Amino acid sequence: MKNCKRYLVTSALPYANGPVHIGHLAGCYLPADIYVRYLRMKGEDVIFVCGTDEHGVPITIRAKKEGITPQEVVDKYYKQIKVSFEEFGISFDIFTRTSTKVHHDTAQEFFLNLYNKRVFKEEITKQFYDEKAQSFLADRYIIGTCPNCKNENAYGDQCENCGTSLDPSELINPKSTLSGATPVLKETKNWFLPLDDMQDGLKKFIDSRQGWKNNVLGQCNSWITQGLHSRAMTRDLDWGVNVPLKDAEGKVLYVWFDAPIGYISATKEYFEQRNNGRITVTDATVKSEKWESYWKNDESCLIHFIGKDNIVFHCIIFPAMLMAYNEGNTDKFVVPMNVPANEFLNLEGNKISTSRDWAVWLHDYLIDFPNRQDELRYVLTSIAPENKDSDFSWKDFQARVNNEMADIMGNYIKRVIDLVHKYCDGKVPTLNETILLGDDEKFTNDLESTEFSIANSIMEFKFRDGLFTAMDFARKGNQFLAETEPWKLVKTDPDKVDVILFRSLLTCVSLAKFIYPFLPQTSKRILQQLNLNESILSSSEAIINHIKSGNKINASEILFTKITDEEMEFQIKKLADKSVAKSEVTAAEKIKFKEPTTFDEFSKMDIRIGTILEAVKVPKTEKLLKLLIDTGLDKRTVVSGIAEYFKPNEIIGKQVCILANLAPRTIKGIESNGMILMAENSDGELSFMAPTKEMENGAIVR
Ligand code: MF3
Ligand code: ZN
Repeated sequence: MKNCKRYLVTSALPYANGPVHIGHLAGCYLPADIYVRYLRMKGEDVIFVCGTDEHGVPITIRAKKEGITPQEVVDKYYKQIKVSFEEFGISFDIFTRTSTKVHHDTAQEFFLNLYNKRVFKEEITKQFYDEKAQSFLADRYIIGTCPNCKNENAYGDQCENCGTSLDPSELINPKSTLSGATPVLKETKNWFLPLDDMQDGLKKFIDSRQGWKNNVLGQCNSWITQGLHSRAMTRDLDWGVNVPLKDAEGKVLYVWFDAPIGYISATKEYFEQRNNGRITVTDATVKSEKWESYWKNDESCLIHFIGKDNIVFHCIIFPAMLMAYNEGNTDKFVVPMNVPANEFLNLEGNKISTSRDWAVWLHDYLIDFPNRQDELRYVLTSIAPENKDSDFSWKDFQARVNNEMADIMGNYIKRVIDLVHKYCDGKVPTLNETILLGDDEKFTNDLESTEFSIANSIMEFKFRDGLFTAMDFARKGNQFLAETEPWKLVKTDPDKVDVILFRSLLTCVSLAKFIYPFLPQTSKRILQQLNLNESILSSSEAIINHIKSGNKINASEILFTKITDEEMEFQIKKLADKSVAKSEVTAAEKIKFKEPTTFDEFSKMDIRIGTILEAVKVPKTEKLLKLLIDTGLDKRTVVSGIAEYFKPNEIIGKQVCILANLAPRTIKGIESNGMILMAENSDGELSFMAPTKEMENGAIVR
């Protein structure tokens, strides 16, 4: 493994086209923050940069949707995103934006460097053009069916369903998202990065990386085996960084060319601001003096935290750009040491979606749960989609906060502090080393191995494991009290109680240190209650040396109050209201008809008119009714999932259509013979398909 003297940590630059949600947090902001806080605590030299990605089609599409200019869009969301991250406590050293002058200059300089070395292939190609909107259709201006997974809403540059990176020409049945028109092909000149020619170098780069996550390596290797294609680095668009060439009127850099360079310009800007006194270095964790120390120095380790939809750009395209820049240059850029990408976080079983407003927005969370940053950090880390997609639900959030944070960690700390007040006069007792508890050596070993194991987990990007280990340590602390029962011993052996409580205090302080990267506020609050200075977190001394006998500790405070059912119902209702809006979108997507069928196929369905004779709810279910239907030929039982919409006594006597030759199925132990036909609207409401006048039972429907 490379010996890192400096760390350059980045989180994906969020598009300034909407607020940040919990999926973003869990994907790349929270893990990066945990990592960086840990490194700083260890006294490492680290810089953590981010900012908004303000170019590309995602911005212009949003502007169109909101009826404002792209500039207004990015101004609005830059502010909102920056404030939410600050309030939430993501500890960037700088959070800038790609609309700054440094960034435009840096991106253009980078482009020109490659251009002058003739890296790009200048090509006149046929690109999709929307004649109605009089515009070339780049990236997200065009959607169509993904050739790989058949997702019908794949973008021109990427399918978000399967992650494949695409060229618009590969889309099946392309459509303009500007006008809905089928685009025509029109000639235009663009500059291409010949990834195909760079394939060998990129393969070497990937193969030489160590400690990469399987999900990331898997994607990289699959692109490389499929063979890389050259890719346009410029676009016919009027929003972005201008292509710095004379014959490039009306063209801008591809957003995925300029955005990762944003990491470089953010670092430059940090030092500009620091030199101008606009950033004061209080804790001096950014220890070097210039941006080049992080970007152009062999001993610097570059780590990109991203979500899985960004893998190709960070593991293939950006490294290709850096390698091309380095070619023939003496001052070489570092290439990524690791790209710990996370999978996706779902919400209540559905994919989070900005456009459908199916999300828990960070700014909303901060309003609804002020001062509960650590609770969200805890839950999002516990369920982090580190190796596969995972799901956030409010019920689970409540359970983890109440049963784990409050009942285990919060309770433990309070219990120890209260006992010290009760039996030791609120002072750290004396550690009498002649009094043994039997497992003294085991405890010392445990303490060391816990610290070691958490450190390893964090350095290997296994943040869930790290947090679980810390929680386990709190559990053991609780167990220790339950086993030693100081409240009983106090009458007979008060000296032993001192030793027990000394060890418990040591456990609390250690816990404060272990959880700091994950739960910084909680860590500091524990230390405050113990009357200890925060600076001990970054001290390299053994923890025990900070615990001084005779020192007064403060009164205990409740660390985590429980989350009530009402609070959760409010959140769940908030989502349900959104889900109405969502089903409208789904309905719009459903407009398309199924594949053609034939009359013969249809005739195989034996659909009859029948009358509902009896209806009762199936016990212990929400949705099911057990119906008795008179089909004219027989009376039969049908189980139907309509109980949420119809009360049994409302439907008795009604005539319905029944699919009579459906093979019998057993549902909740009841044999169901047939299916009642229903219409469903976009709100999910149901209606019977009934004849418009009374018909004899058994009448054929065709
Ligand atoms: N804006 C992109 C997204 O949200 C991420 C850009 S990352 C960087 O998917 F490379 F630009 F920095
Ligand atoms: Zn796909």
